[in-house]
Amino acid sequence: MKQIRIRGGYSLSGNISISGAKNSAVALIPAAILSDDTVTIDNIPEISDIDALNDILEYLGAKVKREDTIMTIDSTSIINKEIPEEISKKLRASYYFMAALLGKYNKVEMYFPGGCSIGARPIDQTLKAFKTLGATIVENDGKYTITAEELKGATIYLDMPSVGATINTLLVATKAKGETIVENAAKEPEIVSVATFLNTMGAKITGAGTSQIKITGVEHLHGGFTEVIPDRIEAGTYVIAGALLGDNLTIRNIIPSHIDSLTSKLQEMGYPLKITEDTITISKIDIKKPVDIKTLGYPGFPTDLQQPMTTLLTLCDGLSTIEETLYENRFQNVPYLEKMGAKIKQRGRTILIEGVDSLHGEHVVATDLRAGACMILAGLVADGETVVASVEHVLRGYDNIIHKLQNVGAKIELEEI
Ligand code: EPU
Repeated sequence: MKQIRIRGGYSLSGNISISGAKNSAVALIPAAILSDDTVTIDNIPEISDIDALNDILEYLGAKVKREDTIMTIDSTSIINKEIPEEISKKLRASYYFMAALLGKYNKVEMYFPGGCSIGARPIDQTLKAFKTLGATIVENDGKYTITAEELKGATIYLDMPSVGATINTLLVATKAKGETIVENAAKEPEIVSVATFLNTMGAKITGAGTSQIKITGVEHLHGGFTEVIPDRIEAGTYVIAGALLGDNLTIRNIIPSHIDSLTSKLQEMGYPLKITEDTITISKIDIKKPVDIKTLGYPGFPTDLQQPMTTLLTLCDGLSTIEETLYENRFQNVPYLEKMGAKIKQRGRTILIEGVDSLHGEHVVATDLRAGACMILAGLVADGETVVASVEHVLRGYDNIIHKLQNVGAKIELEEI
């Protein structure tokens, strides 16, 4: 077990360089197995979710090479066998293999995916897309056996713009016969990066990044190369760290437009930001105006930044609100912030945050990945010492977080217990 110990109150200055996006890399890796050749992906982040996907690739018999941030995947030796529950439940993104194996072999056997416990997270939209494309699904005790005599293009209307269902549909439809149209598709940059990657391998996808995506199926995908886009959630988390404690803290290697929803809120709060083509520089300010936030799909305010942002709002001058519209259980960080001195009331899917002058160090828990980021930010700004337990959740999604923060002046250590 691991925990993080933080001595709070130190300012942060210098540079933090952002790694490849978790939620892009975890889709590109399963997408790679659709190729009938070797593919290379650069800018892979060093996080445990990638190790879990690596395990699935090796379990299936793919040949994987990892050198620094480069991953080379040769799927020609894959054996399409059942993916056991203990592997699939390690992460949400395991279900991208459901789509990739179905697309490639017309058959897949695996279990319900895992992921942070932030809500029910059903997969009905993915299953609806598989069925519409011609698959038959048998579910038995959490195990899905999905088969198709022939996958045929069709129009799929998603009930909500689900990131996972959109990517899964792209993966299957790329190998289906004829044209598929996804209506009400998710528009996240991670969708665009998967579509671009598939196109470099020979797929025919247009419209990714809009709510209507068209896919014309192809028989074969050849080898290809892609680079993972910068992680907008990691970037946003460190921008918030700069808002709390920055003394000219620069976040580098980012696509600033991917976090416009965050930077516009910070500007509303009174932060002057220096934004270039690939950096944002931010310093803390004394008086922070309160704001109201509602989480939405891209380009709205990302749910994945809601918990880190809550830490900042606990220290605003007045009453802020956050409405979480995506997940029913993404406020597990709130009791721990309250333990540290925050004043927060929950009303259904909304929290009301009354700003306080300071937080104080405490023993707290990272109940999930982004709750962990929230607690680390709280520890960095709090008076005294904070210990964050269960940080395995954080290491699933933040590349080298301890070193990145130490390098800019934070007093933070990872401890084995
Ligand atoms: N939903 C359904 N049915 C479905 C699919 C989704 O009801 O079949 C609902 C979900 O319950 C949720 C909403 O639709 O309320 C959106 O879910 P979505 O499918 O878009 O989320 P996801 O693909 O499971 C990805 C990220 C999440 C991120 C969301 C939203 C990955 C591996 N995960 O999840 O990231 O919160 O998109 O942007 O890409 C994280 O990184 O901490 C994280 C949880």
